[in-house]
Amino acid sequence: MSSSTLHSRISHCKQVMVQDVRIGDVSRPVRCRQKSQQSFLQRLPPTFLRLATMSAKDQLKYTNKLLNSRILIIGGSSGLGYGVAEATLEHGALVAISSSNSSRINASADKLKQSYPSYASNIHGLTVDLSNTDTLERELDSILKRATQTLGGKLDHVVFTAADALAPMKLADMTVDRIHKAGTIRWLAPLLLAKFLPTYLTASYRSSYTITTGGISEKPIPDWSVIASYAGGHHSMVRNLALELKPIRVNGVSPGVVDTELWTMGEEEKAGFFEQSRKRLFTGRVPTAGDVAESYLAIMKDWNMDASMVRSDGGSLFA
Ligand SMILES: NC(=O)c1ccc[n+]([C@@H]2O[C@H](COP(=O)([O-])OP(=O)(O)OC[C@H]3O[C@@H](n4cnc5c(N)ncnc54)[C@H](OP(=O)(O)O)[C@@H]3O)[C@@H](O)[C@H]2O)c1
Repeated sequence: MSSSTLHSRISHCKQVMVQDVRIGDVSRPVRCRQKSQQSFLQRLPPTFLRLATMSAKDQLKYTNKLLNSRILIIGGSSGLGYGVAEATLEHGALVAISSSNSSRINASADKLKQSYPSYASNIHGLTVDLSNTDTLERELDSILKRATQTLGGKLDHVVFTAADALAPMKLADMTVDRIHKAGTIRWLAPLLLAKFLPTYLTASYRSSYTITTGGISEKPIPDWSVIASYAGGHHSMVRNLALELKPIRVNGVSPGVVDTELWTMGEEEKAGFFEQSRKRLFTGRVPTAGDVAESYLAIMKDWNMDASMVRSDGGSLFA
């Protein structure tokens, strides 16, 4: 099909359905009312659409901030990290998701490719195991190095959502080993990662490093003293790392309960737990990872957000 035929078919599309099209540095929505035209647009490769819509004149300074950004999501194979992967792909970013289980990463990368077929080449999966303190430094350096190689240059954003199973424990059950283990992935890994970030992240106010804490950092729960201590540490971690990594921005997200794979209890128990949580929340609903992913997006896109902890908890701190 010639580009003039293509242009005239796209010109017939008037309103409603929106297909994001990348044009050089910007992404542009192409709108189409008719079903036949919608499927026509969906089948087109992005490069054709790019050529065909070059004449569009709208400014897109908000929706294009992440276009072609290189983003590593450590813990991106499920839960909040997977939500951030979806959100950043929708903004046209180049995304590497990583976690410890290679088959899970591949399955998640395939799922993302199915959801975003036009961005399939933007999606990459990398393995990293952050559970072993003997190999942690090497793993952290290696994941950043492989991400820069895979994504084709220094990174623009790193998001850390990796975590192992929650380990609440009674004070009487605390041991040095159990306390260390509870904090290795959630607290030690994101802190130690900062050692390597200046080498692999572009030194700019546009770049960011975002870690994850949780409501427990501000509101006590019985048997959660160990986790709460690490989670509270994340608040001062973002402030001090922001100072030491400047101009790279360092922030955190603090969710309340979110419906993710983190909650591994049986279906019935989980439903009961979510129902209790739902009743407590001002919003009256347990959020999805996609809801909370918006906070990570906001941090990446707000070039003035630094040394901050963003709460996304449906009001649960005050409930
Ligand atoms: N969901 C909630 O309700 C909630 C509420 C408040 C705070 N948070 C916090 O938010 C963070 C993310 O939670 P989530 O709900 O997204 O959890 P999730 O769905 O369980 O995701 C955890 C991620 O970490 C990865 N991971 C596990 N072990 C790893 C290891 N040894 N090395 C590298 N990666 C590893 C997992 O993949 P693999 O298993 O493949 O390694 C997965 O990608 C956690 O710190 C959590 O405490 C969650």
